[in-house]
Amino acid sequence: MKAKELREKYIKFFTERGHAEISGKSLIPENDPTVLFTTAGMHPLVPYLLGQPHPAGKRLVDYQKCIRTQDIDSVGDPSHLTFFEMLGNWSLGDYFKKDSIAMSYEFLTSPEYLGADPEKLSVTVFEGDDEVPADEESIGYWKECGIPDEKIYRLPREDNWWGPAGTTGPCGPDSEMFLDTGLDACGPDCKPGCHCGKYFEVWNNVFMQYNKMEDGSYQKLEAPCVDTGMGLERTVTMLLGKKSVYETEFFLPIIAKVEELTGKKYGETEETDMSIRIISDHIKASCMIMGDEKGVSPSNVGQGYVLRRLLRRAIRHGRKLGLEKNFLVDLSEVVLTMYQDVYAELRANESRIKEELEREENQFSTTLAKGEKEFEKLLPNLMKNPKKIVSGKVAFRLYDTYGFPVELTEDLAAEQGMTVDRDGFEEAFKKHQEASKKGADKAFKGGLADHSVMTTRYHTATHLLHEALRLVLGDHVAQKGSNLNAERLRFDFSHPDPMTPEEISRVEDLVNEKIKAALPVTMKVMTLEEAKNNHARALFAGKYDEQVKVYFMGDFSIEVCGGPHVENTSELGSFKIQKEQSSSRGVRRIRAVLS
Ligand code: ALA
Repeated sequence: MKAKELREKYIKFFTERGHAEISGKSLIPENDPTVLFTTAGMHPLVPYLLGQPHPAGKRLVDYQKCIRTQDIDSVGDPSHLTFFEMLGNWSLGDYFKKDSIAMSYEFLTSPEYLGADPEKLSVTVFEGDDEVPADEESIGYWKECGIPDEKIYRLPREDNWWGPAGTTGPCGPDSEMFLDTGLDACGPDCKPGCHCGKYFEVWNNVFMQYNKMEDGSYQKLEAPCVDTGMGLERTVTMLLGKKSVYETEFFLPIIAKVEELTGKKYGETEETDMSIRIISDHIKASCMIMGDEKGVSPSNVGQGYVLRRLLRRAIRHGRKLGLEKNFLVDLSEVVLTMYQDVYAELRANESRIKEELEREENQFSTTLAKGEKEFEKLLPNLMKNPKKIVSGKVAFRLYDTYGFPVELTEDLAAEQGMTVDRDGFEEAFKKHQEASKKGADKAFKGGLADHSVMTTRYHTATHLLHEALRLVLGDHVAQKGSNLNAERLRFDFSHPDPMTPEEISRVEDLVNEKIKAALPVTMKVMTLEEAKNNHARALFAGKYDEQVKVYFMGDFSIEVCGGPHVENTSELGSFKIQKEQSSSRGVRRIRAVLS
């Protein structure tokens, strides 16, 4: 089984069962302030799971690029991936548990599709708690498929419940499918959900059937939805009978290149393997982030910061393997070759990706040199410590201020016969992590975007701003990201220089003029090709026959968008740009408010 084959089979199976194939979207979420990256196939579909009609219908199927960064520091074990692809099928108020479970079972076990041995299949369902009863329906449907009771595991909320991120919104129990890898159980309590490696999760079906209300109660949804996600890399690995995704086509070409560059062999020592896995995972994720339709560059904020951390960690592990010369560009070429047929945007962004990689690698080498110098400066003082221990605080300061990895501090300390207080470092690190978790790098837990009146206004204002920027600054302006809440909009766009005060006021005036002109906002569903013929701005490279929503604001702005929007621009009030600043190289960021 190859990735290509699995994607094709999945799409074929579900399109034959009435699902419309839609294209996956950008890794950078549109109009969603709760999360930095698209972390699941459902993410771009949130408005439709909330009840908006989807232009392609009630049954959908796709594959979606995803990035999960919660455990960036645990990547390197055989299964945690930063970038992965998720296959998914959705019912928007159409079929529910019975058909969803029957289709999953058929796809997994039918010889025409995955042909997995039913004996090896086990499933988990929600066991129920004080608030919501056990998911007996799903248990019944799994039994109808022929799964024996002892292979249906009832698990608590932390395992088998999805969303909502905030306090209110659609949510429900989920049911996960596991394949037995054939390894021995780690103990008598080993069961699906255990991380010892015996059970491998391949698919998750979420049954959104409740709306969690302000008072904490659960109301049944009128039109329950199904959201499923199958991990492409894990499933292929499992079907091939491999122990790790690093032993498959998803990583072998990258690993081969690392071996060639370093002269090291994968499989020799656990320490080397770990570095090779980290480099391979991070270079792939970085190429995907930089080569996205809304391409991101390394920076110190938001997505750009996550990207920078990935790259620095890869460089650091390259140095550990003895690579003194730049190597990221060489590896990126391997990644581009691997994925160019599936994600055309990668080659389209090739020169930018390679330039940024080179620059980042040069810059970080300087950082490393600075950190070393700083360490030397501290040395006389450090040597005074009778126990010859570098405190965790000092190690963390080197890390935090100079981006100097603790392992390097340890190396330098060892050369002086000293050790580093790792526990103290971890403690300082954790404190910092907790603080930053509260900030931008939040994990996405089925978060459902806010559709308040104000955010809806900001959605619409964003379209006017986009168009005004193009008129004032030029056609090179392209949306790079957008982030809304009820208080303000933030809009990232490509433009090389800071805007002048004059340009800023021209953009403001133009937006306000269009608000005063009371332009009607209308929506038409059409194919992406028709949208492009209408000169609509479209952010994604979808299939030409895909049905999309196009929003018209008079004839000023025409844009493909998921909405929601106000009905007339006169509802927006007065528009003001509060700040214009750099977001990353070649990208500016505007913060604006409506009053
Ligand atoms: N949204 C569900 C998941 O990511 C299917 O597991």
